[in-house]
Amino acid sequence: MRVFRFDEIDSTNSFLKRENKLENYDLAIAKNQSEGRGRRGNTWVSKEGAALFSFVLKEDSNLIMEEYRKLPLVVGVAVLRALKKFENLDYKFKWTNDIYVNDKKISGILVEKINENFIIGIGINVNNEDFGDLSSPASSMRIESGREFHIEEVVFAVVEEFKNCFKEFVDGEWKLMLNEINKANYLLDKPVTVKIIDKIIRGIGGVVLEDGTLEVAVDGIKKSFDIGEVHISFKDNQ
Ligand code: BTN
Repeated sequence: MRVFRFDEIDSTNSFLKRENKLENYDLAIAKNQSEGRGRRGNTWVSKEGAALFSFVLKEDSNLIMEEYRKLPLVVGVAVLRALKKFENLDYKFKWTNDIYVNDKKISGILVEKINENFIIGIGINVNNEDFGDLSSPASSMRIESGREFHIEEVVFAVVEEFKNCFKEFVDGEWKLMLNEINKANYLLDKPVTVKIIDKIIRGIGGVVLEDGTLEVAVDGIKKSFDIGEVHISFKDNQ
């Protein structure tokens, strides 16, 4: 595992994707990103004071690709567990990739794949208080707790927690993690909008199911929606 530190870079995910020979858990950390990326081509506003980092997970031939579809959820559990160690806030997990506190986004996860490597990119609003002009409300650990944190300590805690979580996942402890996800399920009982290409479906968020899909009640009928296929939001404009 190598650690690459940058005062500024376009994006820590893009940096690792450009590297030729990646090792498991190679880690890129930046103070600022000029082209921080979120999911669905969104920009991730990358202000100093946030934890902006990406690391490599080499594909394990023992796990089938279907299982890797749950990877963003496993990363989410790692972020939840790690952040709790710093400040015991009421963190919520918004399926599939976001952490919320008090109805505001505090962290986002972007998992990409290049060759046999997954690039796990995480942005956590740690000490920053400026989130640019976002359509959805954001907050930081500092705002919510009233104190500052050592950014690299947060980064390394998340990576270490992910290593534990991934081992648990490979060892068959998925149900335990799923339980944690459902305890912190932000979308439960909330009106949600499911966008599948140009089709929009409205419903009420339910539990995250064993296969990692989200249950949504549409006109009273429970349907499940898959990670990657849909964009779920609890407001029309997100
Ligand atoms: C999202 O909320 O849509 C995901 C945001 C992921 C942001 C992180 S910041 C570090 C890494 N580098 C990027 O360009 N994106 C991820």
